[in-house]
Amino acid sequence: MDRLTIITPDDWHLHLRDTPYLEAVVHDSARQFGRAIIMPNLNPPVRSVEDALAYRQRILAALPEDSGFQPLMTLYLTDNTRVADIEAASESPYIFGAKLYPAGATTNSESGVTDLARLDQVFEAMQKHRFMLQVHGEATGPEVDVFDREKVFIEKSLERIRRDFPELPIVFEHITTLDAVDYVRTADANLAATITPHHLLINRNAIFLGGIRPHHYCLPVAKREIHRQALIAAALSGDARFFAGTDSAPHSKQAKESACGCAGIYSAHSALELYAEAFERGGDFTHFEAFMSRHGADYYGLPYNQGQTRLERQPWTLPESLPYPDSGLIPFRAAETLNWKQILDD
Ligand code: DOR
Ligand code: ZN
Repeated sequence: MDRLTIITPDDWHLHLRDTPYLEAVVHDSARQFGRAIIMPNLNPPVRSVEDALAYRQRILAALPEDSGFQPLMTLYLTDNTRVADIEAASESPYIFGAKLYPAGATTNSESGVTDLARLDQVFEAMQKHRFMLQVHGEATGPEVDVFDREKVFIEKSLERIRRDFPELPIVFEHITTLDAVDYVRTADANLAATITPHHLLINRNAIFLGGIRPHHYCLPVAKREIHRQALIAAALSGDARFFAGTDSAPHSKQAKESACGCAGIYSAHSALELYAEAFERGGDFTHFEAFMSRHGADYYGLPYNQGQTRLERQPWTLPESLPYPDSGLIPFRAAETLNWKQILDD
């Protein structure tokens, strides 16, 4: 097979940052995706409808008028999020959920939630309005091994939220383990998961290959090969609860290549091609379109995109670096060759 034509896909988990970084990256996503769920972990975070609408305008202003790319906004949950914030957001046609960052779990999560029990009224309101909860599923205590954080979160937090709020629709974001795959697969309802291209393509060895590799460091951190294989199986399975979400998260070269390098992998530059590569390695493209373009829309209750997107088997080499303020941006698989290439119509 040398050609893939699919309904224009969506990215159900994306970090675009803000001016002037936003302007450097948003075109990569707009070139490949019809819509994207935009993460709210700016500094300060996107906490209100007003913040989200203003951010949405800045994103649209960074794109050409005829772009057609739709940013689907989210709110950032804090200990102080009020029921009124959720009610207002659930009425907005531009806001598609609220993101739970356990405090300290990842980049710009300092304002995140310190005690989940404090959010029970907020979860209640979200459940009532069928308003999506996007979850960064990692336990944060210092006693929890970094490679066990996802598993512990399922046991200690996610299970409790789902038991107390069974009608609350949840996306378990960027899953990285066999445990998460099994947990989603065996859930009866209201649970789905995004999977990133990098977690489909690398295991934790890639972080230490011949030396420390900061550009392979993200959160949740890549796990053992057995977990990567479980993610591949889930993505290729055709199970509608798994869909694409890149978690593309730009940080400047300098911020990554540092004594305390930031977590985040920039994949937006070639996200489609990276997903195609993962499906190719798995040896089965049967459900590629469903994973990229239909499952997420179905779960969010949105129509499919109108257009189509084409990929061809055409080996090409990624740039070593991309333009980005401060010190440039190193994309995932920089200077390496990918087999698939998006074909843009003239
Ligand atoms: O690696 C990550 N980077 N994981 C996250 O959860 C956040 C993201 C970021 O914003 O840089
Ligand atoms: Zn993310």
